[in-house]
Amino acid sequence: MGVIEVKGLVKHFSQKGKRIKAVDGISFSIEKNKIYGFLGPNGAGKSTTIKVMMGLIYPTKGQVLIRNIDASKPEARKSVGFLPENPSFPEALTGWELIEFSAKMHGVSKDQARVRGREILEQLLLEDSADRPIRKYSKGMVQKIGFASVLVHKPDIIVLDEPMSGLDPVGRFIFKKILKDFKNEGGTIFFSSHIIPDVEDLCDKVIVINKGKILTVLDVEKIRTLSIRAYEIVFKTNKELHADFDIEDIGESMKKIKVAAPEVFKILDWLKNYDAELLSIQPISENLESIFIKLTQERQ
Ligand SMILES: Nc1ncnc2c1ncn2[C@@H]1O[C@H](COP(=O)(O)OP(=O)(O)OP(=O)(O)O)[C@@H](O)[C@H]1O
Ligand SMILES: [Mg+2]
Repeated sequence: MGVIEVKGLVKHFSQKGKRIKAVDGISFSIEKNKIYGFLGPNGAGKSTTIKVMMGLIYPTKGQVLIRNIDASKPEARKSVGFLPENPSFPEALTGWELIEFSAKMHGVSKDQARVRGREILEQLLLEDSADRPIRKYSKGMVQKIGFASVLVHKPDIIVLDEPMSGLDPVGRFIFKKILKDFKNEGGTIFFSSHIIPDVEDLCDKVIVINKGKILTVLDVEKIRTLSIRAYEIVFKTNKELHADFDIEDIGESMKKIKVAAPEVFKILDWLKNYDAELLSIQPISENLESIFIKLTQERQ
C-alpha cells in the first residue's frame, strides 16, 4: 500500500449549468521514498487532483487516503508539506514571519524555526530578502519563500503544484538539489510540472493525465535505459554505394544512415565493402518529451 492512495477519484464542477469533468475516475498509488511527476496539458486536471489530495476540496466520487487516513481529515496532512500553484500569502507578512507562522502551525518551536529557516533561506539565496514584506517579492521569490515555509516543518511527504514555474535557472537547480536531498533523507515527493527535463531529471515515476483521465504511469529509469530504438551512422566514402535502404548525402563525401538498433552490426559489416571511414554512431532515443507529446496528441 502506498503512502498516498488515490482511488476512483472523480471531481465534477458545474458552471453556468454545464458539468465540467475535471477529474474523471483516476486511481494511482504513491510509494514511499520515491519522486513522482504529474504531467498533463493545461486543464488536464492536475491541480484539481492535488486539491482533493490536500483536502482543500471534496471529491464528487472516490477517495484519497494519506497513510490510510481520508485526506479530508486534518490528521492525514500532519507531516505533509504542500505548496499550491501560484501561492498567495498574507502580503503584509515578511518572509521570516511566514516561515515562523508555518513552523508554529506545525508545532515547531521558534528556536528550531530560526535555525532551520536560516539554513533553508541560505540554500535558496533568500536570506537578504527575508525581512522584507512578501508583497514586495518577485514571482520567483514568492515561490521560494513558499517552498521554505514547507520545508521548515520537516514534512515526510511534499506535494507541490508546479513548484518550478517562475524560477530562474539557478533557482530551478537549487530546488532540484533540495528535492533530491529530501528524497535521499527518506522523503516522498509528488509534484506537477510542465518542465519535462526537470521531471525527467528528478522523478522515479511519471503519471500522465489528460482530460481528467490517466493515460499512463511511466517508469523514468526504464525510459532512460530502454528507449534507444535506432542509431544514426555517419561515414565517409568516395565509392558509389549500392543499397536497398535510404542513404542521405550530407556533402563532402559524407553520408548518413538511420538504422534500427538490431541492424547496426549488419550495416557496419556492409560498410567494410566500401572502405568507409566511420565518423560517428549516435543513438536516437525516445525521451519523456516525445512520449508525452505522442500520448497527449493521440487522444486529442
Ligand atoms: N473551481 C472550478 N470551477 C469550474 N471549473 C474548474 C474549477 N477548477 C478547475 N476547473 C476546470 O477543471 C479542469 C481542470 O483544471 P485544473 O486546474 O485541474 O487543470 P491543470 O491540469 O492543473 O491545468 P494547468 O496545467 O493549466 O494548471 C479545467 O477545465 C478547469 O477549467
Ligand atoms: Mg494546474
